[in-house]
Amino acid sequence: MTAIGIHDIELATAHHVVDLADLAEARGVDPAKFQKGLGQDEFSFPAPDEDVVTMGATAAHRLLERTGTEGVRTLMFATETGVDQSKSTAVYVHKLLDLPGEVRSFELKQACYSGTGALQAAIGIVARNPEERVLVISADVARYEMNSPGEPTQGAGAVAMLVAADPALVEIDPASGVYSEDVDDFWRPNDSTTAVVDGGLSITAYLKSVEKAWKDLEQHGGPSISDIKAFVYHQPFTKMARKAQAHLAQVTGAELNDGALDTGSVYNRRMGNSYTASLYSALTSLLHHEDDLTGKRVGLVSYGSGSVAEMLTGIVKADEDTRRRVRDKVLGMLDGRVRLSVPDYEGLHEKTMPSADDTDTPRVTGSPFRFAGIRGRARHYERV
Ligand code: COA
Repeated sequence: MTAIGIHDIELATAHHVVDLADLAEARGVDPAKFQKGLGQDEFSFPAPDEDVVTMGATAAHRLLERTGTEGVRTLMFATETGVDQSKSTAVYVHKLLDLPGEVRSFELKQACYSGTGALQAAIGIVARNPEERVLVISADVARYEMNSPGEPTQGAGAVAMLVAADPALVEIDPASGVYSEDVDDFWRPNDSTTAVVDGGLSITAYLKSVEKAWKDLEQHGGPSISDIKAFVYHQPFTKMARKAQAHLAQVTGAELNDGALDTGSVYNRRMGNSYTASLYSALTSLLHHEDDLTGKRVGLVSYGSGSVAEMLTGIVKADEDTRRRVRDKVLGMLDGRVRLSVPDYEGLHEKTMPSADDTDTPRVTGSPFRFAGIRGRARHYERV
């Protein structure tokens, strides 16, 4: 059987950053609650001329600069923060990246899970025709109400992956474990810019799904737990990965690699939640920071509220130098974000952009692509 998986991966985030020490002070909370209790230091926040399209296009542009576009006939964009009820984010990105017309472009949605659904669909396409490569983008802006418990777990980010036969980075194993259950733990009504969440329920639903997906993986020929060197998890806040791993250790009776919880959360601690991109930014962080991973098997734990979960495994193919070649660039991108004071963050959070008004957005982003504004109710994007 042809080996298929992630050939290359890239990250992007938003222009601004909010320091959780500042937010804690403004909200009268001990900063240790956010930094230790939730495991978050900062969150990215978009400028008015940024959204999932600009972040997703930026991540994909950086990726395709290395890999080229040869063989790319499918572009899937996984997001919970789509910008239109009908037109997909993928079509905007297709234009921004100047891809040929002969590409199928579409969007997928299921809270934080759909990036994994896209990865599996991409593997199916490549299995059918190993000459093809599939561009998978996951990007989201996590927004909760101000002054709510979810506020410190906001964030923004995008991950682009090229899925191909004989991948250079991670070969995904054929077996996976899945689990779906209708749960009202987190959702976002069509007329709301912020998520509605039952935080406590979302944690117990996540943990139950991890257990169910692991059991399903076992029943479908997955590897033994001792063959998995490190796990990465969907991380709405990085402490959640610790809770999930502790639960998995309890269910399996295995001693798991807790060091990988640190190496797999370096970017997430600073970007905040990026919903669909969160698991894949965790994977990128692990690949960039964990030693002795080449030739080893990793586990990927995907959870999207509502709820759908999937557990995948894969073998890391790339050597350490290849895995780390863009680590400094990612850290530089995070260091280079422009810090927002809490009042400035609150002003941006409150801002709405009704589609009925023609608008030109201010030029703020340092990314190669920007959301230029609205004309005749249509969104316009441009290369900077
Ligand atoms: N120092 C260190 N830790 C502290 C602390 C302090 N001063 N004060 C509180 N903590 C710890 C708590 O003990 C708790 O840790 P634990 O979960 O390991 O017990 C943690 O900080 C969070 O405190 P808690 O009181 O539970 O926070 P909260 O009720 O205000 O909000 C969430 C927590 C997760 C419910 C909230 O952030 C949320 O709704 N997030 C969005 C939904 C989400 O991300 N769900 C995850 C599954 S998808």
